[in-house]
Amino acid sequence: MKEKIELIRKEALEEIKNASDLKILNDLRVKYLGKKGELTQVLRGMGGLSPEERPIVGGLVNKAKDEIEGSIENKENELAKGELNKKLESEKIDITLPSTKVKRGSKHPVNRIIEELEDLFVSMGYDVVDGPELETDEYCFERLNLPKGHPARDMQDSFYITGDYLLRTQTSAVQARTMMANEEKSPIRVICPGKTYRRDDDATHSHQFGQIEGLVIDKNISLADLKGTLEVFVKKMLGEKSELRFRPSYFPFTEPSYEVDVSCFKCGGKGCNLCKQTGWIEILGSGMVHPNVLKINGYDPEKYSGFAFGTGLDRLAMFKYGITDIRLLYTNDVRFLKQFDRKDN
Ligand code: DAH
Repeated sequence: MKEKIELIRKEALEEIKNASDLKILNDLRVKYLGKKGELTQVLRGMGGLSPEERPIVGGLVNKAKDEIEGSIENKENELAKGELNKKLESEKIDITLPSTKVKRGSKHPVNRIIEELEDLFVSMGYDVVDGPELETDEYCFERLNLPKGHPARDMQDSFYITGDYLLRTQTSAVQARTMMANEEKSPIRVICPGKTYRRDDDATHSHQFGQIEGLVIDKNISLADLKGTLEVFVKKMLGEKSELRFRPSYFPFTEPSYEVDVSCFKCGGKGCNLCKQTGWIEILGSGMVHPNVLKINGYDPEKYSGFAFGTGLDRLAMFKYGITDIRLLYTNDVRFLKQFDRKDN
């Protein structure tokens, strides 16, 4: 009997040692310790033993049982740990791997300019207004003191759609719209950024380009107001060191008219290839609103005066960011646009 118990014990411990997973281990538990298990069978067979032998054999069986149970428990822990490790290993996430980059767009340089200008003029009490890109001859020209046949119409190569409709050549059209829409004929202070179109196409011109128009109408508006406003505008956009030069010029909708030059921001006025050695760069057109324009659009030139200005957004962007070919602004090459990807988007 003793030998049998010893045999079972040895065999059980050996098998437990070699068990490779929890299921096998469980089968071994049943095999040795279960109701029909080998040690239980031994206990059942004790009936034939003498009363002296019984406690001895019983003790041996219980000892073997405890030992097997302990061994199973140890093995169980070991296997469970192994399985957990295996799981952890297979489900491991390497958080040091770089993630797939989400491709983010960046703000177009012309839109940056528009937003900066809007912020600046809104801070000075202006409204931002809009107008149609498909414009009528009436608003684009006639109401701006450019009747049919006026020679100054040749200054702008227009895309006519029909005899009366064209793609607006200038955001100045919005001047007339704003004055006409103002039924009380009250003071006006607006800017209008937007797209404009002309039949041009080379390194410094594009058939579609951006302009911004400004219009102020009120009582006692003078040239000093225009100069002061443009000075703030140019210095904020192109740097506080910029100097302005007002050159008399001609525009049908302003009298007097001025073209405004800014001291070259590349050479500071000494003369370089950007300013063609002149030290100055032409930046915008402006003037005092022509009395005819006020009259045509319902304002009394005896009571009201005003100033207006207009400039190209693309030119501003080119100057501000040192872009040499205007077509870069319209071909949307991502490598070009990415250079303007800044945190303040
Ligand atoms: N519309 C003119 C152009 O496209 C620019 C301009 C000049 C606008 C003088 C104005 C202005 O408002 O007063 O060339």
